[in-house]
Amino acid sequence: MKAFGSLIYTPETASGEAVSKVESHTPKIEVPDKVKAGEPFKIRIRVGPHPNKVEHYIGRIEVYVYEKDRPFNPILLASVSLTPVYSEPELELTVKLNKDSIIYALSYCNLHGLWESRKEVKVE
Ligand SMILES: [Fe+2]
Repeated sequence: MKAFGSLIYTPETASGEAVSKVESHTPKIEVPDKVKAGEPFKIRIRVGPHPNKVEHYIGRIEVYVYEKDRPFNPILLASVSLTPVYSEPELELTVKLNKDSIIYALSYCNLHGLWESRKEVKVE
């Protein structure tokens, strides 16, 4: 029986047919490389270009942070359900961090499963 984490596609682990889906399903994370401790900054997540039809769409985006030295990780920052046709798979968050962190984004496609990407943020 596979652990749930092994069901998540990443650009590094996608194989076979999934390789052709990497570009259209992996969340694109826009975040500064460095931020100041405790100061709000923007995180923008986009998925696609990807179809946005009732039969095939991005239905969910989740954003987590892994905070360095925290005993338990990750922290869920946002979880957004999207309605096909009407909602584009994009979201923007305002976040404050106090320690070096890794931002993880997950996108869920109703046909092609769960996809992950990540970006490191240094906190000064
Ligand atoms: Fe898809």
